[in-house]
Amino acid sequence: MNYRALGRTGWKVSDVSFGAWAIGGSWGQVSEKDALAALHQAVDSGVNFIDTADVYGDGRSERLIAQLRKERKQEIIVATKAGRRLPHQTVEGYSRANLTEWVEDSLRNLSTDALDLLQLHCPPTEVYYQPEIFDVLDDLAKAGKIRYYGVSVQKVDEGLKAIEWPNVQSVQIIFNCFRQRPTELFFAQAKAKQVGILARVPLASGLLTGKLQPTSTFAADDHRNFNRHGESFDVGETFSGVDYDLGLQAAEEIRQLLPAGMSMSQFALRWILMFDAVSCAIPGGKRPEQVAENCCASDMPGLSAETMAKVRRIYDEKIRAFVHQRW
Ligand SMILES: NC(=O)c1ccc[n+]([C@@H]2O[C@H](COP(=O)([O-])OP(=O)(O)OC[C@H]3O[C@@H](n4cnc5c(N)ncnc54)[C@H](OP(=O)(O)O)[C@@H]3O)[C@@H](O)[C@H]2O)c1
Repeated sequence: MNYRALGRTGWKVSDVSFGAWAIGGSWGQVSEKDALAALHQAVDSGVNFIDTADVYGDGRSERLIAQLRKERKQEIIVATKAGRRLPHQTVEGYSRANLTEWVEDSLRNLSTDALDLLQLHCPPTEVYYQPEIFDVLDDLAKAGKIRYYGVSVQKVDEGLKAIEWPNVQSVQIIFNCFRQRPTELFFAQAKAKQVGILARVPLASGLLTGKLQPTSTFAADDHRNFNRHGESFDVGETFSGVDYDLGLQAAEEIRQLLPAGMSMSQFALRWILMFDAVSCAIPGGKRPEQVAENCCASDMPGLSAETMAKVRRIYDEKIRAFVHQRW
C-alpha cells in the first residue's frame, strides 16, 4: 500500500482507502459479520483511512468502525459527514444547534472524543456562501470536537467555491473513468491550495468492476434499484449518473485495455491514482475478497500514456455528453 498526504493535516493516508456506505445500508443486506470482515481486511491490506457518514444505516456504519477500532491497534483515521439528517436540504438546516447535535451523535457512534475529519454531506450550493456555517465548523474545531473539516460536493463548481474557505482540508468528489471533469480546473486549484481530494464512487457503483450485465438485478433496498433515476437522492450517486446500458457498453470498451494481471476494479482504481492531486480513492466493499482485490491496485504499475488517452477517448465519445456539464 502507498500513502499520500491529505491536505495540510499532516496525515498520510492509504491511496486506496475504504468507503463505508455499503456496510451501513442502501446497498442491500450486508451482515455484521461480512461488514467487520471487510473492515478488518482493509486494515490488513494497509488501509488507514475510512470514509463514513452519520446517515449510513442510521449510525450502523459508524458503530461498526468504532468496533473495528477497538479490535485493532493501528491508527485508523475516520472521516464522517453531517447534514443528511435534515428532512429537507436548506441552508437554515445547517445551524449551529443542528451541526453541534450531529457532531455529538457521531462522537457517540464512533466512541471517540474528537472526530478526525467532519465533512459537510453534499449540502445545497448556497451553504458554501455562508460564512456563519464555516464559523461554526471553526468553533467545533477550537472546542476539540473535530480535528479537521472538509466537504463532500456534488458539483465541481461547489468544490471550487469550498476551497476558498481557508480551513477546508479536503473535498470529496465523484471521480472515476466516467466522471472526468474534475481534472480540468479543480485538481490544479486544489493542489495549489494543498487541499486533499477523496475520489468517491471510484467503481461507478460497480459498473467499472466489469461484473454487471444487462440482466443484473438489485435488491429493493439497494440504491441501484430504488435510485436508478434519482428518485431518492442525486442521480449522480448511482452509477455516477450514467445510463446503465450505456455504462455497460463503455465498460466493455475499457475491458479491452486491461494490462495482463489487472482486474477491471484494479484498473479503475489505478486510473484514479494516475492523478497526483488525488489523496485517495475510497471504494466501497461488502466482502473481504473485494477489499483485498481493490487494495492490490495501490502497488500495481501505472497505466501508459496511450492507455490513459484511450480511456479519455471512451469518455469523450460515449459518456461526456451525459455527465460533463451536469456536475
Ligand atoms: N454524498 C457522498 O458524500 C457520497 C456518495 C456516495 C459515496 N460516498 C462514499 O464513497 C464511497 C465509495 O462509493 P460507493 O460505495 O458509492 O461506490 P463504489 O465504490 O463505486 O462501488 C462500491 C460497490 O462496488 C462493488 N464492489 C467493490 N469492490 C468490488 C470488486 N473488487 N469486485 C466486484 N465488485 C466490487 C460492491 O457492491 P456489490 O458487491 O453489491 O456490487 C461495492 O459496494 C462510499 O462507500 C462512501 O464512503 C459518499
